[in-house]
Amino acid sequence: MKKMVLIAAALLIASPGTFAAKMTMPTDTPASYEAECASCHMAYPPALLSQQSWKNIMSGLSKHFGTDASLDPKTQTELTNWLVKNATTRQKYSETAPENRITKTSWFIRKHDEVNADVWKRAGIKSPANCGACHIDAANGVFSEKNIKIPVK
Ligand code: HEC
Ligand code: HEC
Repeated sequence: MKKMVLIAAALLIASPGTFAAKMTMPTDTPASYEAECASCHMAYPPALLSQQSWKNIMSGLSKHFGTDASLDPKTQTELTNWLVKNATTRQKYSETAPENRITKTSWFIRKHDEVNADVWKRAGIKSPANCGACHIDAANGVFSEKNIKIPVK
């Protein structure tokens, strides 16, 4: 019996846990990612999207959500390769993001179904894409339940 419990505990530790809790930035994040992709919003951890989604985003940077986020060809290649390499490997999160948005994926909508429509519009949040407004450690890729604090206004 005791042995069974120990095995169960070992399995728990060994399993990667719920996807969500942690999707840390890869250790080989190029400096250009912070410089080019984190000036208008946070540097989204690559594991939030599939390979195809990152390809779609990176091939449309001149028309990026109403802005021009184009890059020089060298940086464009560097970042595309790095994002694709570090894209999610989990089936559950592998859908091609509608409108190139993490926030339009079915997993995102499901995970946030308890957040009311008016909450997203609070001044302290402004947009579902503003992950760090509620996920206080989002910049480190931590999205677990105990690291959430929703601004009251
Ligand atoms: C000039 C400003 C700007 C730059 C630079 C920029 N973005 Fe964005 N990005 C935006 C805006 C604006 C949105 C829409 C935000 C919103 O809806 O709140 C957005 C949204 C996104 C989203 C979707 C967020 C969602 O709703 O799920 C992704 C992914 C993204 N950007 C990736 C990138 C990447 C990768 C780069 C670097 C190559 C980059 N962005 C550079 C302005 C920018
Ligand atoms: C309005 C605040 C808010 C914003 C903004 C927000 N989230 Fe969340 N998020 C939540 C809440 C609340 C939950 C549900 C927590 C729970 O009950 O497990 C959640 C859950 C999640 C989960 C699942 C966590 C788990 O352990 O199962 C992930 C992953 C996640 N959010 C990612 C994101 C990403 C990525 C962004 C930005 C693109 C974002 N969230 C923006 C409030 C927010």
